[in-house]
Amino acid sequence: MNLLRVKHLEKSFGGVSAISNLSFDLPKGIVFSVIGPNGAGKTTLFNMLCGFYTPDQGSIIFKKENAEQNKEVIYHSLHNMATHQIAACGISRSFQNLQIFFNMTALENVMVGCHLQSSSRFLPSLLRLPSVIKEEQRVKQQALNALAFCHLDHLANEMADSLAYGDLKRLEIARALASKPKLLMLDEPAAGLNDTETQQMSHLIRKICDSGVTVLLVEHNMELVMTSSDQILVLNFGHLLAQGTPDEIQNNPVVVKAYLGEDI
Ligand SMILES: Nc1ncnc2c1ncn2[C@@H]1O[C@H](COP(=O)(O)OP(=O)(O)OP(=O)(O)O)[C@@H](O)[C@H]1O
Ligand SMILES: [Mg+2]
Repeated sequence: MNLLRVKHLEKSFGGVSAISNLSFDLPKGIVFSVIGPNGAGKTTLFNMLCGFYTPDQGSIIFKKENAEQNKEVIYHSLHNMATHQIAACGISRSFQNLQIFFNMTALENVMVGCHLQSSSRFLPSLLRLPSVIKEEQRVKQQALNALAFCHLDHLANEMADSLAYGDLKRLEIARALASKPKLLMLDEPAAGLNDTETQQMSHLIRKICDSGVTVLLVEHNMELVMTSSDQILVLNFGHLLAQGTPDEIQNNPVVVKAYLGEDI
């Protein structure tokens, strides 16, 4: 069953075509990687999926929450939706360049990601009503759970600016998970990590998928991609070059020539 369907997507910047006539289906419950050389359009695709960029052409549809329970498949069209509306549909992301509040603790950074789930309103919050205090405790517990899931619970009260780079990468993921997404998009989660941290990241990605969250991964580290992915889509100059399992991609002569190199 598909969670996301992209059809004939196009995005240009001035005369540069970043994504060109891109169509693909993203099945639910898998790790789906998008790879390609620098400038292939991977981040542009992410930015369209989460509403940062509006596509020039094409459609993006996302399966509605609880559709299985209703036995009726209903889709959101994400076109022209605001980023917060798309997030509320169940799409969450991490960033190629860290987006962390360095003057806040790790826990506070993750609590920011819980706001979508929070029902607090302005006046009750101002009056500190018991319902608000209870809601704050719930949000805090949810954030602590996300930190523990990413093996960061021991750093909950540390300021973000004192955390190691590998911990910060997982902190971003913890914050994205705190909103309880259906689809988690990770833009180069292993960039800048050493071998041990990359292995931890690989385990975390698999654990996220096993917990029922579909993962859309953009990554240059081919070992991580090949070991973590169920399916891979290869982009080249904004065009779909190939799609398949890690084995199929590694043995695809067109992909090897254009991107992977002869020695992979
Ligand atoms: N906001 C923007 N304004 C102008 N051009 C852009 C913008 N964002 C992306 N581009 C261009 O679109 C193309 C695709 O860029 P994109 O960042 O999506 O590539 P990428 O596959 O993520 O590359 P990398 O692997 O280096 O992160 C590039 O030619 C880039 O210069
Ligand atoms: Mg990028």
